[in-house]
Amino acid sequence: MMAVFQSNHTAGETGPGALPRHIAIIMDGNGRWAKQRGLPRTAGHAAGAETFRRVATYARDIGLEFLTVYAFSTENWKRPAEEVSTIMGLLERYLHEAIAKMERDRVKMRFFGDTTVLSPKLQELIARTAEISTRFEGCQVNICVNYGGRDEILRAARAYGAACARGEAPELTEEAFGDYLYSAGVPDPDLLIRPGGEMRISNFLLWQAAYAEFYFTDVLWPDFTPAELDKAIAAFQGRSRRYGGLMQ
Ligand code: FPP
Repeated sequence: MMAVFQSNHTAGETGPGALPRHIAIIMDGNGRWAKQRGLPRTAGHAAGAETFRRVATYARDIGLEFLTVYAFSTENWKRPAEEVSTIMGLLERYLHEAIAKMERDRVKMRFFGDTTVLSPKLQELIARTAEISTRFEGCQVNICVNYGGRDEILRAARAYGAACARGEAPELTEEAFGDYLYSAGVPDPDLLIRPGGEMRISNFLLWQAAYAEFYFTDVLWPDFTPAELDKAIAAFQGRSRRYGGLMQ
């Protein structure tokens, strides 16, 4: 567990209460951000990738254990080919840069989604980040690519069924089923943030977000700053989480 703060930024500055262990973010609003500036949508994604770098670094600095971001959904393939290839290119560039410094920065990386359909280059970079991530403990960033919540649950159900057929399936409990999801071993998100003004879950972490606190803001993702993350954490710290029970 990474309880040690690594910089002068502490979530304590945002108010009393515990820091969430796991924050999930739907990085929405890149296209509108670009449109407002008369730029192509792809410029919005490039700005969004920069925001992701800044927010991930800040999350690591304040001692967050897990950050999960939605980079590309199973439905995003419907977008124009140029936009899809820009997002894949940004991911590739990010992974290239990250590989060189993830061990130094103590940022581990994992991918949620079916990555087998991605380019061989991206798959190779993903395999390298996975291998490097085994070497140390640190903040873990989960990047959802070709990810869909329903697809994830279906795949898990199929894998469980296959284990049953082999006579190797454990008793079906919530915990056991969770081991068949992409997020196996990762605690559920405590806080789910959606910038960009929409108030929906868009097929993101459907199973895992069962008890997440939601935070919505009109700020478009490229404009989302560490200060915005502080605001979301402060809102989280003001919530009372009862998990279906009563106040203590
Ligand atoms: C949603 O905004 C954003 C996406 C579909 C892509 C997000 C991708 C990145 C931020 C870049 C690559 C990621 C990494 C981790 C380097 P939208 O296009 O739906 O915005 P709109 O609702 O304003 O049109």
